[in-house]
Amino acid sequence: IQTSQQTEEFFRTIDEELKQGIVSPRIFNDSELYAHELDRIFARCWCFVAHESEIPMPGDYVLRYIGQDQFIVVRDEDGQVRVLFNKCTHRGSPVCRVEKGNSSHFRCPYHSWVFKNTGEWSGAPYRKKAYKKLDAELWGLASAPHVDSVHGLIFASLDPGAPTLDEYLGEMRWYLDALLGLNDQGMSAIGEPQRWRVPANWKSGAENFMADAYHVPSLHRSAEEVGMFPGIEAGGAGPQASSRHVYFDEGHGMIINDGFLPPPWHRSGFPPEVADTFQPDRLTSDQQLFVENHSATTFLIFPNLGLVRVPASPHPGAPPTVFTYLRQWQPSGPDTIVNWNWTLGWNSAPEGFNEEAYVAALSMHGPAGILEQDDTVVWGGAPVAGKSVFARKSGMRFNFQLGLDGMSDYAEDPEWRFPGRATTSALGEAPQRAFYRRWLREVSTPDRPERTENGE
Ligand code: FES
Ligand code: FE
Repeated sequence: IQTSQQTEEFFRTIDEELKQGIVSPRIFNDSELYAHELDRIFARCWCFVAHESEIPMPGDYVLRYIGQDQFIVVRDEDGQVRVLFNKCTHRGSPVCRVEKGNSSHFRCPYHSWVFKNTGEWSGAPYRKKAYKKLDAELWGLASAPHVDSVHGLIFASLDPGAPTLDEYLGEMRWYLDALLGLNDQGMSAIGEPQRWRVPANWKSGAENFMADAYHVPSLHRSAEEVGMFPGIEAGGAGPQASSRHVYFDEGHGMIINDGFLPPPWHRSGFPPEVADTFQPDRLTSDQQLFVENHSATTFLIFPNLGLVRVPASPHPGAPPTVFTYLRQWQPSGPDTIVNWNWTLGWNSAPEGFNEEAYVAALSMHGPAGILEQDDTVVWGGAPVAGKSVFARKSGMRFNFQLGLDGMSDYAEDPEWRFPGRATTSALGEAPQRAFYRRWLREVSTPDRPERTENGE
């Protein structure tokens, strides 16, 4: 992809401004930057594509996106998960038109070329007369060069030179183990993922879930007022109380919150009948200590996979249930996201718990969720400012200075004994600044960048 001189200069400006904690609105709505994001972030990073429980049997498949490209995520006849580009090598027609199903082969509707669910070219009408010399090896469906999974989460990278998934996740893997790897039975996606279109930029979702505890007491106050999200301020969903950030220079990070629920809820807020199915010996002693004493509430795996695990009431006034759900902000243009939502249930949980958790998750973060409606409305402002004539002429900048250079009561916590940089509260924006530094490294680097320790 070509980078104009103007954009090269803009990259240098962003770099300088990030050090001062300011960001140009332009990064939220610029077609050239967006093309760079698709090319250098989504086609290079490890992107989440599906949960293993969505395709348990050979032949099971679902249609998914990496950036704006559509892929068939399919379990082949030998059980291996493949991520196949859903474009026929004859004229580019999608070979699969159904959101999910089971098939050993995909037959293109246009001229009926047929591909195995490994992606291999398998045949075509009149083959013996029409394609006597066709080299079948060359004409299979293109596929993601790297596919791997962790605790049921399937990721793919389109970059042949990508690091392994474990290297990519770095020490976030430690927290994934402590959040999702709590027993042998694991978790499953409940129902189908919900999808809906939102006028916003994908980065607004990512930075929000990664670290924006600051918005909760103000934007989401109504959820507390109707009795569905109790204890926002006192319980610590806000930036003070018992919240903190843990983040990494790779742009991954999370909000840790210890104050949501009083005992006897324990082990990250799960009731005993669920917590008793967890197997502590699957974790290291440090991970066990973390699970007993802390609770990650929202987190981000760069670039666009979020996870939420919080207690919320499935109905106004009902006791809270801890739900776990995955969120992906799929870019569909610089100013449009397609939100994808999966609620995860514990396979070991007693009947009823996952159902309550599912309802709680939808009540909060489904398309009509009480938190979701708050968030998506306000995120719509950034891309509008990004295209505004007056924003450009007046040199408007967004403020990411919270916690910078003593701006607030916010510091690194030297006592934190677990991986990552931890802070003493969540009243800061250091993780967001780390996110945008990672973003800038990726969009401004033509070849795979070295990992740097360019942190605060
Ligand atoms: Fe697929 Fe022709 S486009 S067979
Ligand atoms: Fe929110």
